[in-house]
Amino acid sequence: MMLSTRYYALLFLGTLHYFTTHAQSICPLIGPDFPPPKSLSSNKTFQSTISNFTQLLQQTISAGNTQYGPFDSANTSYSTELFSTYELTPLFTAHFTPPAVATYQDGVKSVDSNTVFRIGSLTKLIVVYTFLIEAGDARFNDPVAKYVPELLGAAQSINPSANSLGNVAWDEIIVGELAAHMAGIGRDWEGLGKIGGFFFPVGDPSALGLQPLHASELPRSKY
Ligand SMILES: *[C@@H]1O[C@H](CO)[C@@H](O)[C@H](O)[C@H]1NC(C)=O
Ligand SMILES: *[C@@H]1O[C@H](CO)[C@@H](O)[C@H](O)[C@H]1NC(C)=O
Ligand SMILES: *[C@@H]1O[C@H](CO)[C@@H](O)[C@H](O)[C@H]1NC(C)=O
Repeated sequence: MMLSTRYYALLFLGTLHYFTTHAQSICPLIGPDFPPPKSLSSNKTFQSTISNFTQLLQQTISAGNTQYGPFDSANTSYSTELFSTYELTPLFTAHFTPPAVATYQDGVKSVDSNTVFRIGSLTKLIVVYTFLIEAGDARFNDPVAKYVPELLGAAQSINPSANSLGNVAWDEIIVGELAAHMAGIGRDWEGLGKIGGFFFPVGDPSALGLQPLHASELPRSKY
C-alpha cells in the first residue's frame, strides 16, 4: 500500500519532469524548485521519522488497529521498501509475515525482500502511461489484433458456437477498451486465476490466442 503510493508519486514526478524539461522555455512551472535530498539516511529528521514509523507499524500489528481503522494482522502480509536513487542501500525496509501465511497452500512461508508480489495494477498503469507519453491516444481506437495478429487468427479459428464468455472477440477489442478495462475480459479469466480453471475449463488455452508459458515463467507466489 505504502509502496504503491510512493510509486504513484514517482510516476507523477517523472511525468512532471518530462513536461518541465519539454516546456521550460514556453511556460515554466510556478513555485520553488527544491534540490533533491541526497543523503537522507544520515539526516536526523529522517532517522527520527523512520524510527517513529517503525514504532507505529509495531503498534499496529500488536493492536490490530490504527487511527484510520482496523488492521487484520492475522492475515495481512506487507512489504515496504523506500529507496533513494542517490544511495546504494534502501532507506527503509519492513516486511511482515502474518500467522495465516503458515496455512496457505501456495506461496512463501516467510515474507522478505525476495518475496514476489502480484503488482499487476501498478504495472498496468506504467504500461498505459508510457504508451500515452510515447504514442499519445491516436492508437486507442485500433483493434488490439492489429498489433498482436496471433490473437485475431485464434479468434477466427474458434468454434462459433462456443460459449460467449469463453470466446473472446479479439477482432473487435480495441486498445482503448483494453486500457480502460472495458474489453470484457475478466480478471483471472477462466475462473480461479488459472487458465482451464473451475468455471470455464478449456482444453488448449493457446487455441484462444494465449501464448503458452514455460513452467519457469509461471508466478509462484499468490499472496
Ligand atoms: C534534514 O532534512 C530536513 C527536512 O528535509 C531538513 O530541513 C534539514 O535541513 C536536513 N538536515 C540536514 C543536516 O541535512
Ligand atoms: C517522533 O516521535 C517523537 C515522540 O512522539 C516526536 O517528539 C518527534 O517529533 C517525532 N519525530 C518526527 C520526525 O516526527
Ligand atoms: C484471518 O486469519 C484467521 C486465522 O488464520 C482466520 O480464522 C480468519 O478467517 C482470517 N480472516 C479473514 C478475513 O480472512
